[in-house]
Amino acid sequence: MGYPRIRMRRLRSSPIIRDLVRETHLTRDDLIYPLFVCEGRNVRQEISTMPGVCRLSIDQLVREAEECAAAGVKAIILFGIPAEKDESGSSGFRGDGIVQKALRELKTRGLPLMLITDVCLCEYTSHGHCGLVRGHQILNDETVELLVRQAVSHVQAGADMVAPSDMMDGRVGAIRTALDKNGYENTPVMSYAAKYASGFYGPFREAAGSTPAFGDRRSHQMDPANVEEALREVALDIEEGADIVMVKPALAYLDVIRRVKEKFQMPVAAYNVSGEYAMVELAAKAGALEHDRVMLEILTSIKRAGADLILTYHAVAAARLLGGR
Ligand code: PBG
Repeated sequence: MGYPRIRMRRLRSSPIIRDLVRETHLTRDDLIYPLFVCEGRNVRQEISTMPGVCRLSIDQLVREAEECAAAGVKAIILFGIPAEKDESGSSGFRGDGIVQKALRELKTRGLPLMLITDVCLCEYTSHGHCGLVRGHQILNDETVELLVRQAVSHVQAGADMVAPSDMMDGRVGAIRTALDKNGYENTPVMSYAAKYASGFYGPFREAAGSTPAFGDRRSHQMDPANVEEALREVALDIEEGADIVMVKPALAYLDVIRRVKEKFQMPVAAYNVSGEYAMVELAAKAGALEHDRVMLEILTSIKRAGADLILTYHAVAAARLLGGR
């Protein structure tokens, strides 16, 4: 009953029939746009390893957010770049912190955008680690207390959702409890549940100035070789109250996205990280790849793997190409 009666090419023979049988539809609703906010006025400082991505002062951030909303993207995630960093990352949980100020300003604009914040210490600590450090140890429970303060202060300043990215144990539950106690029981938590110790974060660390001064992140981020452990991480975060679970990075971890989606009936997010963005941009600049085509192919593959949401520096560019589709 095989060839020639069955010809797979029949359903590929015209654009219309290909549209009719397409299995995966990437839309603007799937995309979350990461933005870096810094102090100052009129600052648009391009990150050298991420062409097209800038550190933005609040006035410029507002402009970018407006363009993002106009392109039909529904959500942004903010990363703070404070003027001052210290050992405990205290600028991360102060009411006048950079993210808190940005949130208050964005809120006054009433944009049709979900405002998400990344919750971690590494952007705010002088040593670039995701937690409090004693000797060469990253302390867990002491760090969780600071993450909780940061998360609550983001929500007080106007965050619609918080996204803890630190990979300390127990932080999702602690943040959930604190939000509930402060009257924010309707604010969701998107946890970076399966976050790997990846080489693909290089450009981000340039952007945030968060390269660890010593050591690395392998004592809290996951070993790239593991997938069953990812399922345990996700299960724990769900138990602790996560509303959306994330796999990060995306491209080298498509199998992890698939396993998580199949095992848990939960919205799954995937982070198409800075190094993945840089690969596309730099290869296209070198003339090796067609930019738009590869960008959409990658995002579609992440969706096909099982992601409901994709955090990507390509969000606005992709949304413009996708239009109202
Ligand atoms: C940590 C954080 C990182 C990223 C998002 N949140 C960096 C890290 O873990 O070192 C990386 C995102 C990217 O590479 O685009 N707060």
